[in-house]
Amino acid sequence: MQRLKTDIAVVHDAAFEPGDVVEALTGYFSLSRVSLDDDLGNGSLSAHLCVFCASLRPGLAFQRLRKALQDCEGEKLFIIPTHNSDAISRLRDLDVADYLVLPIDPGELRTLAKAAINRRVERSWEALHPTKRKALKESLACFEKCFSQVRRGEPLPMEDINVSCRHIRDAAALGGLDGWIKALDDHHNYSFRHSMFVCGILTYFANAIGIVGDDLHQLTLGGMLHDIGKSKVPLEVLDKPGKLDDGEWKIMRNHPEHSREILLSNQGLDADTVAMAVHHHEKLDGTGYPGGLSGAQISDHVRLTAIADVYSALIDKRSYKEAMSQEAALDLMAKFEGHLDMDLLGAFRSFVLEKA
Ligand SMILES: [Fe+2]
Ligand SMILES: [Fe+2]
Repeated sequence: MQRLKTDIAVVHDAAFEPGDVVEALTGYFSLSRVSLDDDLGNGSLSAHLCVFCASLRPGLAFQRLRKALQDCEGEKLFIIPTHNSDAISRLRDLDVADYLVLPIDPGELRTLAKAAINRRVERSWEALHPTKRKALKESLACFEKCFSQVRRGEPLPMEDINVSCRHIRDAAALGGLDGWIKALDDHHNYSFRHSMFVCGILTYFANAIGIVGDDLHQLTLGGMLHDIGKSKVPLEVLDKPGKLDDGEWKIMRNHPEHSREILLSNQGLDADTVAMAVHHHEKLDGTGYPGGLSGAQISDHVRLTAIADVYSALIDKRSYKEAMSQEAALDLMAKFEGHLDMDLLGAFRSFVLEKA
């Protein structure tokens, strides 16, 4: 699936002012606003989801709405101003069964929009190589299970996790990290997307430079679980649209300690994997957290995780920042001398740019 510029196109007619809808979605999704009075022939409906704000008044606007509905290739969500027999018969005429009526609940609208976009992204995985498709599907199900089980105070589903890791290693053996990143790019479960970026980067890179056996398994496993402690971070901080303030950062910075607690209470996880989760925010010069470890205290597994973590964050788009190109991200990371291992970064740079 080609990466689209916008997540959502809010399509409205002249009699429906979509200000509340736009406000509810702003910051959480990239948006375009499209009037049915404008020329719609320039890809303006090219979004994962079209939210139709339709007055449903008869006449030209209704004909344009019908045409826009046909032209919209993504998911569709309907919002109408009033619910009466006229509106119901017009919706039936358009073959629209599901809709929201004003006033909208912003949280409900965002939940529906997120689910619709994720459905579309997940459907696009059908076009991938079966091994990669399986890896993505299994890891999504597994990741959601991990987060919900930890939130309920239950142990991690280690069997599912190990199966997912095996599928990810099979996918990485085929090469093509770019395709892995692209398949996840627009997914709106951010924690899943980020963890799978890190996990994929570690596994594809490790595979390409000949790491095998237990070390490869630890890197995949550690990548998948590296931010598991975020499952303990309150959702209003974890999913905040925009930059965190100082107090929220303080809460967020506790996630490696949460990870330690979660991973040590589960059996079967080796020390290297736990260290990847606990220490991936350490810096070689000792200014990182949570332990302020420096130099030789930071293992190769952790150094690699730090590189994958920083690179993932830079090439990812957030509501408050654009995605960086691969080259720009690697150039910037080359300046993080006291933070990252420059020898490993050099090898990683060659891997990324040579598309190994
Ligand atoms: Fe982290
Ligand atoms: Fe991370």
